[in-house]
Amino acid sequence: MILKTLTIKDFLSHENTTISFKENEKILLDGKSGSGKSSITEAILWGLFGKGRTENRSLIRRGEKSAAVSIKFADGHAETLITRTVSDTGKNVLSITQNTGSKGQFIAIQRTGLKDLQEWIEQVFLRASYELFTNSVAYPQENENSFVKTTASRRKDLLLEIVGAENFDKLYDQTRNILNTNKLESSNAVTKIEVLETIIKDAKGIEKEHDIYKKQNETISVEIEKQKLKEKDLDKQVNNISNLLGQISDKKSLKIAKVLSAEEINNQLKTDQETVKNHESIDIKTATTNVEEATNLQGKTTKIEKEIRENAIAQEKINAHLANKPAVNDYTEEIVSTKKRLVPLVKDSGSCPAGDDCPFVAPIKGQIEFLKDQIAQKTERMKSEKIALELWEQDYVLLVPVKDTKDLYTQLEGLKDKIIVLLESEKIVTAYNLFEETLIEIKKRELELDLKKKRLMAEIVLVENQIQKLEKESVKSDINQINIDLAKIRLSLHDLQDQKDKAISDLALAVQAKETILKSTAEIKDLRKIKLKLKTDGESLELLKEALSPRGVKAVIVDYLVPQLEERINDILGQMSDFRIRLDTQKATVDEESLKEGLFITVINDRKEELPFASYSGGEKVKITIAISEALASLMNQIGFRLMDENIVSLDSESTEGFVTVLTALQEKFPQLIVVSHLQEVKDMFEKQIMISKVNGVSKII
Ligand SMILES: Nc1ncnc2c1ncn2[C@@H]1O[C@H](COP(=O)(O)OP(=O)(O)O)[C@@H](O)[C@H]1O
Ligand SMILES: [Mg+2]
Repeated sequence: MILKTLTIKDFLSHENTTISFKENEKILLDGKSGSGKSSITEAILWGLFGKGRTENRSLIRRGEKSAAVSIKFADGHAETLITRTVSDTGKNVLSITQNTGSKGQFIAIQRTGLKDLQEWIEQVFLRASYELFTNSVAYPQENENSFVKTTASRRKDLLLEIVGAENFDKLYDQTRNILNTNKLESSNAVTKIEVLETIIKDAKGIEKEHDIYKKQNETISVEIEKQKLKEKDLDKQVNNISNLLGQISDKKSLKIAKVLSAEEINNQLKTDQETVKNHESIDIKTATTNVEEATNLQGKTTKIEKEIRENAIAQEKINAHLANKPAVNDYTEEIVSTKKRLVPLVKDSGSCPAGDDCPFVAPIKGQIEFLKDQIAQKTERMKSEKIALELWEQDYVLLVPVKDTKDLYTQLEGLKDKIIVLLESEKIVTAYNLFEETLIEIKKRELELDLKKKRLMAEIVLVENQIQKLEKESVKSDINQINIDLAKIRLSLHDLQDQKDKAISDLALAVQAKETILKSTAEIKDLRKIKLKLKTDGESLELLKEALSPRGVKAVIVDYLVPQLEERINDILGQMSDFRIRLDTQKATVDEESLKEGLFITVINDRKEELPFASYSGGEKVKITIAISEALASLMNQIGFRLMDENIVSLDSESTEGFVTVLTALQEKFPQLIVVSHLQEVKDMFEKQIMISKVNGVSKII
């Protein structure tokens, strides 16, 4: 995998810098001190690991709100874009996209958070931790985790990381756990097999009886059938008897009903006879005479009543005549006094000398005339009233005189009482006459009833005979005995059914036992297979555990890698100096009582003297460091670029020549090489040179 582009925004002294890389391109970054060269290599490290020279927020270019670094990598056609940003609020964002879309579009790698994405970069993409990366691929100007300064045990781990064996301890623990589970499962399988074998043994004991249970079952079934037949027969007998008894009871009821009917007929006949007898005892002759007499007496009463009525009419007439008697008034005195009043008047009328023409005589004459008229009228009225009275009196004499009717009334009452008594007999006569029709009916009914009675009597005899016959038949069978027998059979049937149930359940158990044997045998077979598999797995796991143990593959790797690494380091070192190093994986403790494990570096000078690393000069240390980082980087095939930041500043000119030789060799090994240097010898090696300079505090590519 190689670099394609690097874009830096407001990171350290850079404002907006982009560098494009090509395959097999060796680039030299040049510029004055503080111009921003290291910022470029650091941008790549920060982009990949999020680690910089200070804490993240201080990496933002002064006065800006956020910094961002984007690096595009290429591996054949596959491209990966990693972008990391930090804001002044401290928010860190990491995004990773790859051109895995169907049309080559970039799709994000899905991970739950920043930590997981970081893990993806280190474990999947680079296959290198920050510590390994900075000790091999990209050696920074100042390296706090320098391989030579770290512990022997860390060095050994870094070596193992190169071959991906850094997780062996973890895998070893996991394998041990799996192995423990395997052993547990194995022992479980053994226990299960033992349990199943016991189950099979027990089941065989039951299954052995299968045929016996089957036979028992059959025998009982036959016996049950026999008993059931008997039960059926007895049931039939009981039914017959109850049928007979039912018939008898029916017939008896019928007989009673018929006897009752006969009795009813007798009663009716008796009543009829009594009715006839009562009729015959009636004295119809006397009753008839009484009725005739009553009729006679009624004639008499009619006559008396007529006489009374006529007398009453006469009385009424007399009363009416009396009421119309005319009144006779006496006007004699009135006439006399009127005559007296006339005398003076007549006298006065003749005394006037003017005679009839006298004006005083005319009214007197009128008065005289009036009084004379009065007298004449009253005289006439007295005469006519007298005549009317005479006529009334003549009529009165002609009216019939009224008799005394008291006697007549007394006679009438006596007669009426007698008639009431006599007329009692009229009812008797009427009833007697009416009974004639009833008598005919009674006679007719008597005949019918007699016939009915005879028939009923015959039927009663018939039913009685039937009853006797049925009773005779029913007496033949002993119902109690039959019931006892039936109960006995039923009890035995019950018993047999219980036996059958038991036989069936025994049989079912035997069948089940057979199934259990089959199932358990199959299970044992499976378990044995599992056990066998667990055994082989266990053996493999045991081997794996051995392989993963500190004495296993790890030791082999270390034993294999260490001489190779030592040879490479000394190869490179040989091009720059007379020093050699020796790598050891074990070292005696200070008290020399035990051995320490790790990767120990011993430096040997040209006089074959062994001296500790710390006692060498700065330049010598640089050479050793360069040699180690080159050797480590050459072991990491997956990464095709290399970054070096002025790590050779303190080398003398002879060593610089040697370093140039080393670089030349490196140029062939790595497709991409990015070197920061201001040494002319180094610069001369590079065709492509990028010049960085700072203008107004901002780093720029010129
Ligand atoms: N946050 C920052 N903002 C702007 N400039 C910075 C920031 N931090 C460091 N610098 C400056 O960046 C410059 C570049 O440093 P560096 O890349 O290490 O230079 P060199 O070219 O010597 O490697 C230095 O002068 C440093 O002061
Ligand atoms: Mg620098």
